[in-house]
Amino acid sequence: MGFPKEFLWGAATASAQIEGGWDKDGRTPSVWDVLPADKIENGDSPREGCNHYEHWREDVDIIKRLGLKAYRFSISWSRVLPRRGEVNPKGLQFYNDLVDALLEAGVEPMVTLFHWDLPVWVAEFGGWDSGEAAIAFLEYVKVVVDALSDRVRYWFTFNEPQCFVTDVTNEGRDHDVKRAGRNVMLAHGRAVEVIRTYAHKSPLVGFAPMGMCAAPVPGVMDEALAKEMTFSQAAGAMGMSWWLDPIILGVIPEPLKDTLSEDDIKTICQPHDFFAGNCYFAVNYLKRPGRENLLAFPGMPKSATGWPVTPACLYWFTKFCWERYRLPVIITENGFANTDFIMLDGKVHDPQREDYIRRVLADLEKAIDEGVPVFGYLHWSLLDNFEWTHGFDIRFGLVYVDYKTQKRTIKDSALFYANVIKTNGGCLTELK
Ligand code: NOJ
Repeated sequence: MGFPKEFLWGAATASAQIEGGWDKDGRTPSVWDVLPADKIENGDSPREGCNHYEHWREDVDIIKRLGLKAYRFSISWSRVLPRRGEVNPKGLQFYNDLVDALLEAGVEPMVTLFHWDLPVWVAEFGGWDSGEAAIAFLEYVKVVVDALSDRVRYWFTFNEPQCFVTDVTNEGRDHDVKRAGRNVMLAHGRAVEVIRTYAHKSPLVGFAPMGMCAAPVPGVMDEALAKEMTFSQAAGAMGMSWWLDPIILGVIPEPLKDTLSEDDIKTICQPHDFFAGNCYFAVNYLKRPGRENLLAFPGMPKSATGWPVTPACLYWFTKFCWERYRLPVIITENGFANTDFIMLDGKVHDPQREDYIRRVLADLEKAIDEGVPVFGYLHWSLLDNFEWTHGFDIRFGLVYVDYKTQKRTIKDSALFYANVIKTNGGCLTELK
């Protein structure tokens, strides 16, 4: 069977990680622009980033050259609304032009509305701990939907809320995790309503959580147990079921029984058009997260972030999520950090990333062949970029970025991926 004909081969990025232009054309800072230097490795800052704000045409040309069918990017809230109630026409124009250029290049634009770059002005009145942030978020969503939904069909409300409600660096201070989580879930539900009410073109809406996947281990953990672990509530706000059971199934998980009411669920649980998930590796804990990972062994293959290269991760992830949530699946992020550099021949040879891509796509193909309706794969990331508190040393891109000159160099893995796309996965069988 293999990949369906219309499979959405793509790549993803996020505004704070690539745009730069932190104070250009009326934008105000996000919490990431003002973090103290000692919070980020090497004192790096996203303020200039890959300067996609000025290099976006070149970046769209690269997307076109690689033959990507879809491109997921996020909107910088403080570029569009530098202050509450004040729409920035230049900020909106940037995204309008980007969407037009993508469509002209035959690429499906996919918008993430919130990928961690909270405007400082929202953080100032309490961030996600305050219900007011959710209200401000909806005002912003309405502006973006009104401006882009005549051309954008795919919408993701939040990216990996697990991270921004649990990690202090995201707002520079501690959160009341349950309170912030509830506010984000309510904001998600209302945002879905706003998108469906105001979209000019019939929208497809979802949520992009961090995907946790436990894979079976022969002789130790069977499929049923691995599936149970994948949705384990012991993972709390870092897990998937804490978020997705209320959002997709309308079920309040045990740890949130004291936080969510049935009335909340009426708002939170809105129809989704697909299941989206970011998944990079599988883990396997016998009892609870934090214990020894059964899939780990000394000297096992790892990426530059230390993340394990685990077999069949996307196979189990998509299968388990389909079985639980019964929605067509799109992988909104998956990728490999590598120690890339420009080599003596002027190119970036990154065979580890290519090998990783081969493995994960073989997993996906197997899931599809067994009937899991996977309709897209978005590689993280299009460009090397600002990896949050790890700064710029970690390189996830298909395209190498020299941060001094902003020169882009297409890596070998990108050329390989371009061939995967061109052959709709056909070339993956070569090494089988
Ligand atoms: C998930 C996050 O959404 C993205 O921002 C991050 O760069 C990648 N994972 C890699 O860590």
